[in-house]
Amino acid sequence: MNKIKNPYRPIKAEVIDVITETENIKTIRMKPSEEISFKTGQFIELTVPGVGEAPFTPSSRPSIKDMLEVSVMKVGKVTRAIHELKKGDIVGIRGPFGNGYPMEDFKGKEILIVGGGCGFAPLRSLMYEFFEHEGEFKKLFFRGGCKTSKNFLYRSELEQWAKRKDLNLELTVDEVNSEWNWKVGVVTTILDDVDMDYSSGIAVVCGPPIMMKFATKKLLDMGFKESNLYLSMERNMSCGIGKCGHCRLGIYYTCKDGPVFRYDMIKDYPDIWD
Ligand SMILES: Cc1cc2nc3c(=O)[nH]c(=O)nc-3n(C[C@H](O)[C@H](O)[C@H](O)COP(=O)(O)OP(=O)(O)OC[C@H]3O[C@@H](n4cnc5c(N)ncnc54)[C@H](O)[C@@H]3O)c2cc1C
Ligand code: FES
Repeated sequence: MNKIKNPYRPIKAEVIDVITETENIKTIRMKPSEEISFKTGQFIELTVPGVGEAPFTPSSRPSIKDMLEVSVMKVGKVTRAIHELKKGDIVGIRGPFGNGYPMEDFKGKEILIVGGGCGFAPLRSLMYEFFEHEGEFKKLFFRGGCKTSKNFLYRSELEQWAKRKDLNLELTVDEVNSEWNWKVGVVTTILDDVDMDYSSGIAVVCGPPIMMKFATKKLLDMGFKESNLYLSMERNMSCGIGKCGHCRLGIYYTCKDGPVFRYDMIKDYPDIWD
């Protein structure tokens, strides 16, 4: 783990590539001036000088320390500036912050990953971890959904994953508007054929709030335990280190106690899907 001397001071990073994933999502590949170690599921604060900073979960391989990628959806001021970055530009990185996925707790278990839209970003880094520790997990299922095929991040990578023997992968779109060889329907419609023991299995869900809400309901109906459901929560953040209170979720600070929460920890707070 990185030793953070001053958590408010960003380290410099050079943009070494910008990859257009979809109409409104770009992946920014950066070379930090110091090595960065992050646990899959942790987040960083990315600063565009003169514009501001925003939190993002790295989508790259945690074992690579001298390169980091984030996949960013354009929604406002900072993300618009990130989309304008070019090779050679200098940005700032603070972190990593938060807890990340509890990989030790997943060992020996059957695991179902459910992703939607921009939620594929943290899940890509999680999948790299599973692949690097092949054999340590009993069974691995990936179910991913997007509005249309054009909204899929990492499309060619997903096609490669589909060929892996250690992974059962299924994808779906809400509507077909170009060539598509997978399923059609919202992501909850492709969970029924997951051949695992729901009562002891782990499910990890990451995506837009509405998708997380319905996927969680479906998984609970299927028999998954509340304590075996892991959700990546997003809240407005500022400090990233449990000082400012911007990211409160009930008794928790999302930046410090999350962003990964077990469903049983947060289910009673009324605003979890906001
Ligand atoms: C822990 C954590 C991890 C995150 N990881 C990622 C990631 O990997 N990739 C990514 O693209 N985003 C991620 N986000 C969301 C990202 O931080 C926000 O999209 C970003 O802060 C928006 O900043 P902005 O200045 O561009 O938008 P602002 O100018 O602050 O907001 C503009 C408008 O967009 C809306 N908005 C803000 N955030 C979102 C959002 N998340 N989705 C939809 N609308 C929003 C606002 O309500 C506002 O109306 C993450 C957030 C958290 C808390
Ligand atoms: S962002 Fe400041 S307390 Fe979480």
